[in-house]
Amino acid sequence: MKLIKVKNYEDMSEKVAEMIIEKIRKTSKLNLGLATGGTPKGTYKKLVEAYEKKMISFQQVTTFNLDEYVGLAPNDPNSYHYYMNKSLFDHVDIQPSNTNIPNGVARDLMEECVQYDYLIKKSGGIDLQILGIGQNGHIGFNEPGTSFDSGTHIVKLDDSTINANARYFNRLQDVPTHAITMGIQSILQSKEIILMVSGEEKSNALQRLLNGEVTEEFPASALKNHPNVYIIADEKALSSV
Ligand code: GLP
Repeated sequence: MKLIKVKNYEDMSEKVAEMIIEKIRKTSKLNLGLATGGTPKGTYKKLVEAYEKKMISFQQVTTFNLDEYVGLAPNDPNSYHYYMNKSLFDHVDIQPSNTNIPNGVARDLMEECVQYDYLIKKSGGIDLQILGIGQNGHIGFNEPGTSFDSGTHIVKLDDSTINANARYFNRLQDVPTHAITMGIQSILQSKEIILMVSGEEKSNALQRLLNGEVTEEFPASALKNHPNVYIIADEKALSSV
């Protein structure tokens, strides 16, 4: 894992946007893995700005999102589909058919998981995966205890994750209890991974990732088994290291 230290959220967003822009420019066809949550929002804003300045095009980009809440339809303002449309897809020239997000309201969720992994494989795999990290070390929605061999699957969310994500919902009771997420193995199959970490509330997780052991009890530690991981972390996130 290569650690890149930046000053703050703004600089982290800028740095990661630059790395993505460089990839988009260099490759004729890019499969980009995307994350949601507060962490990558600034990066998506920078990508939209770069598109508006005609610095990049998303015509040759295919995206795969990590996860989606079970039970939230794409037009639900709390769904990750909605988040992606509002944060990025609606503002750039990406082909809607090239954007992939697990369907949290699929009639057969098990089949949806199998199909999602198949879709990634069929497309040639993810070239660059963007990740955030949960306070308990989750990546995607892979909670502590998830097998490192896992493909896309359905998870029951930890109470700590439900509490942490409640800030995006009107009421705690509205936060879904389950999600569909790419598994640890699906994530590790990406050719390159960028983990973004910002803010003091992530400092313990980052400390454990950098100094702790590789264990399924701390999902992000699986990244230590991958040859090509960049961690872009700001000063507050690094405050416990
Ligand atoms: C959420 C998402 C993750 C995200 C993480 C951190 O539950 N499923 O993909 O990386 O938790 O979220 P945030 O960036 O809002 O802190």
